[in-house]
Amino acid sequence: MTQRAVVISGTGLWTPEEFITNEELVVSYNSYVELYNSRNAADIEAGTLQPLQPSSAEFIEKASGIRQRYVLNKDGVLDPERMAPHIAERSDDEMSVQAEMGVRAIHRALESAGRTPADVDAVLVACSNLQRPYPAMAIEIQHYLGMEKGWGYDMNVACSAATFGLQAAVDAIRTGSARCVVVVNPEICSAHLAWEDRDCHFIFGDVATALVLEAREDATSGNQWEVLGTRLQTKFSNNIRNNFGFLNRADESGVGARDKLFRQEGRKVFKDVCPMVAEQISSHISDLGMTSDALSRMWLHQANLGMNEFISRRVLGRPATREEAPVILDEYANTSSAGSIIAFHKYNQDLKAGDRGVICSFGAGYSIGSVVLEKL
Ligand code: COA
Repeated sequence: MTQRAVVISGTGLWTPEEFITNEELVVSYNSYVELYNSRNAADIEAGTLQPLQPSSAEFIEKASGIRQRYVLNKDGVLDPERMAPHIAERSDDEMSVQAEMGVRAIHRALESAGRTPADVDAVLVACSNLQRPYPAMAIEIQHYLGMEKGWGYDMNVACSAATFGLQAAVDAIRTGSARCVVVVNPEICSAHLAWEDRDCHFIFGDVATALVLEAREDATSGNQWEVLGTRLQTKFSNNIRNNFGFLNRADESGVGARDKLFRQEGRKVFKDVCPMVAEQISSHISDLGMTSDALSRMWLHQANLGMNEFISRRVLGRPATREEAPVILDEYANTSSAGSIIAFHKYNQDLKAGDRGVICSFGAGYSIGSVVLEKL
């Protein structure tokens, strides 16, 4: 069977209007701490409960590189009596929140590819948290895009969902089950984050990204990136975990417990994942006959600046410049699967024909995905 060459022909980004700076976040968190400690003063005094410690904006920037994050709703998150976004439920007749974000990013991606929804064969929603089990968000998105044909499905591989979705799209186009696929990453991380946990309350933000992939022979966009190869890797770990799910109601004792939101052993994640990612990028490019000198850019997952500096240094054998490994987490924080795609969206247009780069994501699972690209 002839295998078609595949290109990324369009990118789209939708960013919420509201954002929270580290300083704002810390003021609200520290009010929550004061409330908690005063409400529990007797137990704290008796030594049966540990008081909560205040957070600090300096710590957050130093430990992570994050300065702010965009969110769907700021008020609810910053309300010390609530510590969760207000996102109103919608009726079944209205477009759901996650589909709406996805549709907005897709319209921008289609526009940059010079395509319309009528050209799309398949929609893959690839992200960390799905608003509901069914019908698939992808099928709702397909409907609201006005696609009269085609198919869609959802997939969740946490922070690596985008690259896993990219491989699925590439394989579908290569082998002929689709000619044009949209991969969309609508991430509502503000709703899976424990804003009352000092160790991680600063980590995440909300966003939606989308990519259009087409058979090379079909693409007409002025900015095309050929996919030279994709590689995925998974290895089980409990160091990033969220136990929220449909079985929760079958054991009332766990409903609303801390383990039903994102939690991680940040140091262990850092230590385990960084060497695996560097090794994967190095072996992936080597198997494609490339050395690291041939990599003009690394669009890495955006969780922590230290992680990205470690990985890019290990791959290149020297520290990477910001141009070689762009950073968007200072502005967006960790947006899970969308992070590396935001970096690609914002920092690819300056490269010239023949330049090569790698999109690489990593996260819970553990899961790692790399996609090596060449500008046409
Ligand atoms: N404000 C002030 N101090 C804080 C704090 C906060 N918000 N959170 C933690 N601290 C304190 C801790 O209590 C600890 O104090 P101690 O040394 O007196 O015990 C100290 O700061 C260091 O805490 P630690 O949790 O070890 O921080 P860290 O340097 O490992 O940074 C992460 C934390 C989460 C930023 C970092 O581990 C990380 O980013 N890891 C990568 C994993 C990741 O982001 N994964 C996402 C999915 S891929």
